[in-house]
Amino acid sequence: MPAGQVSTSDALSENYFKKMTQALCKAGLYTPSLVVDKVRLDSNLAAVKSITEKGFDFRIVVKSLPSIPMLEYIMKSANTQRLMCFHMPFLRYLSEHIPNADVLMGKPMPIGNVESYYQFLNKQDGFKFNPTTQLQWLTDSYARVKQYGQLAKKLKTVMRINLELDVGLHRGGFTNHEEFSETLNYIKCHDYLTLSGMMGYEAHITKIPGFIGGPIKAFNNACKLYKGFSDVIIKVMGEGALENLTLNTGGSSTYPLYEKPGLMNEISTASALVKPTDFDVYTLDHHVPAAFIAAPVLKIIKDPEFPMLKKLSKLMHRIGFLPRKVCFIYGGNWLARPCYPAGSKRVNILGHSSNQEMYELKETDNINVDDFMFFRPTQSEAVFLQFGDIAVYEDGKIIDIWPVFENK
Ligand SMILES: Cc1ncc(COP(=O)(O)O)c(C=O)c1O
Repeated sequence: MPAGQVSTSDALSENYFKKMTQALCKAGLYTPSLVVDKVRLDSNLAAVKSITEKGFDFRIVVKSLPSIPMLEYIMKSANTQRLMCFHMPFLRYLSEHIPNADVLMGKPMPIGNVESYYQFLNKQDGFKFNPTTQLQWLTDSYARVKQYGQLAKKLKTVMRINLELDVGLHRGGFTNHEEFSETLNYIKCHDYLTLSGMMGYEAHITKIPGFIGGPIKAFNNACKLYKGFSDVIIKVMGEGALENLTLNTGGSSTYPLYEKPGLMNEISTASALVKPTDFDVYTLDHHVPAAFIAAPVLKIIKDPEFPMLKKLSKLMHRIGFLPRKVCFIYGGNWLARPCYPAGSKRVNILGHSSNQEMYELKETDNINVDDFMFFRPTQSEAVFLQFGDIAVYEDGKIIDIWPVFENK
């Protein structure tokens, strides 16, 4: 286990959640809250750093941790200015709030959106963020690069272009060397475009089953495809053309596979730092869940009944078709799975409710009205934006509040 990492053995214990419950009550947080455990965040960060310190730059994926103080905390701890952004409102927000950021867009943006970003910047007074040196636009085809080229000419502004590669995920990006080469020639001859790098995302790797080659084969294939495109850059742009380029790869489930620096020089990741359930994958066994939804228990009901069906409900209890004990919580219906009390399950007898969702409890569960149920988000990107400020938890106390991004 790398230095600074927390053991995974006690990750979801009753004791852990009882202490978190006390901390929430002490802090007066009685509505559903998103809680991030800072000690665990640090532990996961230590794991990421143990790879990036081998010789990769670390780019933090903004959508997965959409909070300025949270990003700033990680940027400082990992000594990086690099961010990956996927949403125009977030780019505007970053330009204002983290003016020294180095931003790579993680997906291509419609050209109208790009133009309105420059219009937005023109209207601001005193913004220090300079897109000609601090921003890379991700583009996935010759046609799109031409659109960017026309806009750059119209606005008379330099745009840095990063090229998305398809390295096996098949989520778009360049696939053939002819189109790639044509695009490079277009950029080379353009007065306002510069080539800033390539991005090859390979989240498919850990999902490839053994009978079609397994993750190692998929990883090697992705690296080979990446190398093929880098050879085209050298051919079109000349020896030394790769120097100073951003050669980006990686994601939460794959970053630990980059054991030796090679062609790629930076890794993007973020979800692994809080480990939602979608990231319960073998490559992240050494990471600990660090983000939880805490939802107050409003009502506990023994022997719940179907409306108007007293006798049938009794029968259903007897044959185990209806739970003997349920609770209604404050809120619900999130992209999240219950983790405390362990084994709780969503109950569907009244349909689902975002207002008061019903959960099955075990009769032995030691939980009362006004206690909290806890959930692990399945993903961080959508869920983190649903609860207002993030409650930052450390060793039995809520020690800080981190506001999340405004989505406008
Ligand atoms: C281009 C790209 N890089 C990296 C990531 C990894 O982000 P995370 O580590 O938060 O899953 C993503 C996730 O969607 C992505 O699209």
